[in-house]
Amino acid sequence: MKNTCFDPVDRNTAALATLADPFRRRLLSAAVLATAGGTLAATGLPLPSLAAGAGRAGGALLPFAGIAPSTEDRVVLPTGYRSELLFAWGDPVSDGPRGRADASDSALDQGRQAGMHHDGMHFFPAADSGSPASDHGLLCINHEYTDDGLLHPGGMRDWSAEKVAKSKAATGVSVIEVRRTDAGWRVVRPSRWARRITADTPCRIAGPARGHPALTTAADRRGEFVLGTLNNCAMGATPWGTYLTCEENFNGYFRGPPVPGADQQRYGINEKGFGFRWHEFDERFDATLHPNEPNRFGWVVEIDPWQPHKPPVKRTALGRFKHEGATVTLARDRRVVVYMGDDERFEYIYKFVSRRPYLPGRGDTSTLLDEGTLYVARFDEDGKGRWLPLRHGERYPNGALSVENGFAGPGDVVIRCRQAADLAGATKMDRPEWIAVAPTRGDVYVTLTNNSQRGTPERPGLNAANPRPANIFGHIVRWREGGSDAAATRFAWDIFALAGDPQNPDAAKRGNIKGDPYGSPDGLWFDAAGRLWIQTDVSTGTLNKGDYANFGNNQMLVADPTSGATRRFMSGPNGCEITGITASPDGRTLFVNIQHPGESPGERGDPEKPTAISAWPANQYPGAVGGRPRSATIAITREDGYPVAPA
Ligand code: FEO
Ligand code: CA
Ligand code: CA
Repeated sequence: MKNTCFDPVDRNTAALATLADPFRRRLLSAAVLATAGGTLAATGLPLPSLAAGAGRAGGALLPFAGIAPSTEDRVVLPTGYRSELLFAWGDPVSDGPRGRADASDSALDQGRQAGMHHDGMHFFPAADSGSPASDHGLLCINHEYTDDGLLHPGGMRDWSAEKVAKSKAATGVSVIEVRRTDAGWRVVRPSRWARRITADTPCRIAGPARGHPALTTAADRRGEFVLGTLNNCAMGATPWGTYLTCEENFNGYFRGPPVPGADQQRYGINEKGFGFRWHEFDERFDATLHPNEPNRFGWVVEIDPWQPHKPPVKRTALGRFKHEGATVTLARDRRVVVYMGDDERFEYIYKFVSRRPYLPGRGDTSTLLDEGTLYVARFDEDGKGRWLPLRHGERYPNGALSVENGFAGPGDVVIRCRQAADLAGATKMDRPEWIAVAPTRGDVYVTLTNNSQRGTPERPGLNAANPRPANIFGHIVRWREGGSDAAATRFAWDIFALAGDPQNPDAAKRGNIKGDPYGSPDGLWFDAAGRLWIQTDVSTGTLNKGDYANFGNNQMLVADPTSGATRRFMSGPNGCEITGITASPDGRTLFVNIQHPGESPGERGDPEKPTAISAWPANQYPGAVGGRPRSATIAITREDGYPVAPA
């Protein structure tokens, strides 16, 4: 089974621009030379300086000495910082049983325990004494996918209905109550708010695709409810206190027909899937029998963590694609803006702008994300950009979003969002992952994690925003909306950093990071003071080999967005990815997720291989359940009690 956070197949086969003319070639070489933290001044383009005005000297935001790359099978932090294990796969969310070292827990048990593969996460402070608490709150944690080799005794041997049920129960979201005590952070058990949301939890469908014929199935003839949420990758949090969990590689769970239709191909529904084999015991994952079931996934799902009995809601106005995250900010007039990446090679960046404003304490927030305009981004070669509306009826040079192109109404546009974006002429990006909005000016940063197929003879496709051929290290692009208003339809952009070693003798792979080098940036988050936290997801087949030989394990770094100065703050255990970050309001605690320690290159499904690679977290934290490597949430604090992320 493949790593399902990365679907390696390129499905966007719409024509790509080439670098045929000399002007485009000049732009490309200049963009590659752009300095980290600077602007595209090297291009000679008349761009506003995105770095201007912040005024802090290089590294002033980084109050720690960076650590060296590490290949230790443990979490490594700078001197003066410590971590504690909070919530590992198998830990009960409330009063359920604790996971067993041999993974012999039942599907029912698993549905009351932490799922696998922790990913995006957010801390919702309690308002214990009328103000947001920094020592008590709820953590919402995504469980992106399962490694069925680790999940069951015997791995995937003797595949059964019980194993499928357990795999579904280890997917989704955990809501846990956490409290800081004199002895450190603890999960509150039992908790009235704690719950698991899994691949079987009933979810409501809302927005333009609700009731659409393409969302109806034998089990839901009205297209209004769906069982479960899948491949919950990154996330967002709304100002009204709800959590947005994002369905990424949903296609991999379905068995499709031998010759899929064009729409299924565009979303990667095929005969093989990713090897989850759920369809063998749960028929709804067999898209040859239930062709509309895949249309019911690939959405952003809103969860109210303080209302444990409220069903999650699939917000279809935000479009259907392989959602990485859903980063929320407000426009000047308080309309809600959600930035979203579609993580696949040559896919797009989107934003949603609500029709109505968010008015704190007034008005109904339950439908704010159901009405508005969905846009897709075009990054022009001159450092400017446009948000192209995906409105039904909109006409573009490539074709109209109208009946003749298969868009009978607004529901069709959001269901076949990728096809609509193709017609709009959006810019094909190098796998958009997380998006973060700077707390000061509202500049928006996105990680483009890598794209080894960019610029191959078959797929030329270089453009100024994705300037490197065979982009194995990835980069970070940022933009400033017109008038610094998140609802603007025009923006100016530049490249914040080209990842990779600045000393690499191969100019095409050379990075321009000012400080500690990294590759394959993925998680991205701003703290309240405007530090940019960068988490990496180098695939386990690449980690510590070849061009990545000196980078160490996957890691987390902190960058000063003004100067570009970057320091390595954390290294993770063997085979893991670092993903998911949130802080207590006082900045004293950072919660971070370690995903898939022990993941072995190539096929998963063998329980022995991950065990040979990693013994984390049991090898680092006394009392942790061992037996197998386990994804987990850790809490990071400073030994002297000062904030980890001071404001
Ligand atoms: Fe699930 Fe694209 O990371
Ligand atoms: Ca990711
Ligand atoms: Ca990734």
